[in-house]
Amino acid sequence: MKTLALIGGTGLTQLNGLEINHKEMVATPYGEPSGPIIHGTLNGTDLLFIARHGYKHTIPPHKVNYRANIYALQQCGANQIIAVNAVGGIAQNCSPKKLVVPDQIIDYTHSREHTFYEDNLDDVVHIDFTYPYTENLRKRIIHSLEKLGFDHVNHGVYGATQGPRLETAAEIQRLQKDGCTLVGMTGMPEASLAREVGLEYASLCIVANWAAGLEETEVSMDDIRANLDESIGYVRKLLEQMIS
Ligand code: HPA
Repeated sequence: MKTLALIGGTGLTQLNGLEINHKEMVATPYGEPSGPIIHGTLNGTDLLFIARHGYKHTIPPHKVNYRANIYALQQCGANQIIAVNAVGGIAQNCSPKKLVVPDQIIDYTHSREHTFYEDNLDDVVHIDFTYPYTENLRKRIIHSLEKLGFDHVNHGVYGATQGPRLETAAEIQRLQKDGCTLVGMTGMPEASLAREVGLEYASLCIVANWAAGLEETEVSMDDIRANLDESIGYVRKLLEQMIS
């Protein structure tokens, strides 16, 4: 039996309906995770949870200790991770409030601790990252979204930006030319770290806004918050469907 973990992003610092059994602060060689790992049960199934930005939403994307979070989840027994990511929509089909299950990533982040393989190595390690998300897990998410009848998109190219500021209109045009259909600040190095330690990993992106410059108006934080609040309820329903 595989143990599923959820990494909650912006708008998801707690999972309603999750019965909390205990909280575990895991000491890691990489420093502190974003908070204790929550060991809980959802409809009788064990589930691990961590809020990526901390339980009070105080850790910005570039300061998240992605290594400690992945290490701690694995220590607690996770074999599969569903990462929830708030994103801006770039492609036409990625409109606000859509749920998107990306299948590719372009990484524009920098200066983040992005690998477990740097010190005390017997040999240099290069992981395969051709398909950055675990296809089986992606398929399970998509299957559940279909069963629930939620408005979703099965493919997407996640452009991971450094943040914490949002992008310029020109940056979004560049990402669009590169083939990105979504933009977010937390997709990397989380995905590649999970791959480095052999965890299954897939992302559920919640489109919070049109990316910069795609609308007449500037990006509004109030709209982002309102759209996320509305969409976040889908996540629990999705998890319930997935584990049922
Ligand atoms: N850009 C980057 N990250 C985001 C956005 C965006 O427009 N919306 C939500 N997260």
